[in-house]
Amino acid sequence: MTDRSRDLLALRGLPVERLRALLGAADRLADGAVPPAPHTGRTVATLFFEDSTRTRGSFTAAARRLGAEVLDLSGKHTSVSKGETLADTARTVAAFGVDAVVTRTAQSGGARVIAGAIGVPVINAGDGRHEHPTQGLLDTLAIARAHHRSPGFDLTGLHVLIVGDIANSRVARSSTAALTALGARVTLIGPPPLAPPGLRALGAEVAHDLDQHLAHADAVMMLRVQFERLGDAPPPFTVRGYRAGFALTAERAAHMKRDAVVLHPGPMNRGIEIDGAAADGPRSLIAEQVRLGVHVRTAVLDAALRAEPARTGATAGVPALSAAGAVR
Ligand code: NCD
Repeated sequence: MTDRSRDLLALRGLPVERLRALLGAADRLADGAVPPAPHTGRTVATLFFEDSTRTRGSFTAAARRLGAEVLDLSGKHTSVSKGETLADTARTVAAFGVDAVVTRTAQSGGARVIAGAIGVPVINAGDGRHEHPTQGLLDTLAIARAHHRSPGFDLTGLHVLIVGDIANSRVARSSTAALTALGARVTLIGPPPLAPPGLRALGAEVAHDLDQHLAHADAVMMLRVQFERLGDAPPPFTVRGYRAGFALTAERAAHMKRDAVVLHPGPMNRGIEIDGAAADGPRSLIAEQVRLGVHVRTAVLDAALRAEPARTGATAGVPALSAAGAVR
């Protein structure tokens, strides 16, 4: 059996000790700790089948900080677009001798399919509408640090609103899992088609009135309306109607609690779900989220690369070339 314990596929169901360990390691890096033991000679493959700027860049920066090489196999021109299955593409990448695979897929569950096909750790960088665990970790770290809850990460008493296109959001699912596991109260807010009651199964409350909750929240995470995931049907609301109910305008931001913070995973649609005054104002953690993202991914990759890779399963017997050219 392949050891899958060093995968990071989802935050939902992750043991809380592992959650705290990853957050703790990232927190120390954010405070200036020297990156952990170098992973010189190891190779991290990035295999992104969907567009990404900050996530892929941030994983690349993190891998390099650890001294690892990055083999970027992303793009619309992978063999998957020619009809090859995800599993076959993953086996090909693994056979190059890489030590970890960071992947983003359009399919929910895509990262798990890849993990099932290869013998090295797999990090999910977003799979369809399912999860985006490193984003959930960095959101949680940003909120915990802003409210002086690190390094213990007990978030009891904090109320977090996640606002917007919840139904299509893997970020909302991962962040909700981490925040609630650590004791925070989470309310998912959006128009009914984007925040259906079934989302209560995530362990959060579901609401449709932002103004009712905003004044009591400790953190507000705004999400992009993912027009590309709404399908061919016209959106079930107008931009004007959406803004009237759910945009974080300067006026709404002014009604928030004194120490409440604003987050957005990016990319932002300024003028739709968030206005410049809120995105760039003193409450905003948006730039801090990007900074913490590199530290979270450094901690996650370090954990994945730390032990000797279990070269079993599909990659059994495939030797890896180290940077020095020696076969390990
Ligand atoms: C998010 C994603 O791709 O899920 N972005 C990101 O990773 N920073 C959110 C989004 O695309 O709206």
